[in-house]
Amino acid sequence: MANEEEKEAAGRAAAKLVRDSDIVGLGTGSTAYFAVVALGERVKAGLKIMGIPTSVQTADLARSVGIPLTTLDEHPEIDITIDGADEFDPKLNLIKGGGGALTREKVIATASKKMVVVADSGKVVPTLGKFPLPVEIIAFARTVIEKKIASLGATPKLRLKPDGSPFITDNGNQILDCSFGKIEDPAALARELSDTPGIVEHGLFIGIAKMALIGRGPSVEQLNG
Ligand code: A5P
Repeated sequence: MANEEEKEAAGRAAAKLVRDSDIVGLGTGSTAYFAVVALGERVKAGLKIMGIPTSVQTADLARSVGIPLTTLDEHPEIDITIDGADEFDPKLNLIKGGGGALTREKVIATASKKMVVVADSGKVVPTLGKFPLPVEIIAFARTVIEKKIASLGATPKLRLKPDGSPFITDNGNQILDCSFGKIEDPAALARELSDTPGIVEHGLFIGIAKMALIGRGPSVEQLNG
């Protein structure tokens, strides 16, 4: 599939940016997967790094490919983080959280000297918002937050598992997927959501990513923020 080929090309290109002795933030999702696998190959070939995973799922993957792991407590400054995105605009503002890992992803991205986004070509959009914005909330506040988000112009939908029960994040919280259609001022919306009690984190990453590697067929395009 072209999409898989693009994800793999982007993930592998990003893994090449990692240098000996780096502390590396390991992203979550189907594109970050290829970067983690490629890093595992480099570790087997002698590269000395330690990874900090953005999710339980990525921690399992990293262990399975032989990447030594550490924690933010041991290494609060990360050299480089490689992670996917659900959407991004030309300024490298992102929507993340399709996989539910947005809170840890944002903590790790903002603790990093450099965050590199890896994506297939379908993720680039002129204006964010077609992809429903994931918002991690504490269950206690759900109805109040749903009303607030509706007042901001979106339709919030509680994320469910296939069995119909609420999806629960690695942090024990719920997720509202919020369809905004078009987010004309993502920075203003990000501030509004961050100021709402009960919202743990939202998937708008404003001004955090400095570089995107975008798979286009078998080649990779670089975009700088
Ligand atoms: C995980 O919570 C997300 O932020 C992912 O990084 C995002 O959903 C992109 O995933 P894919 O690479 O699978 O599209």
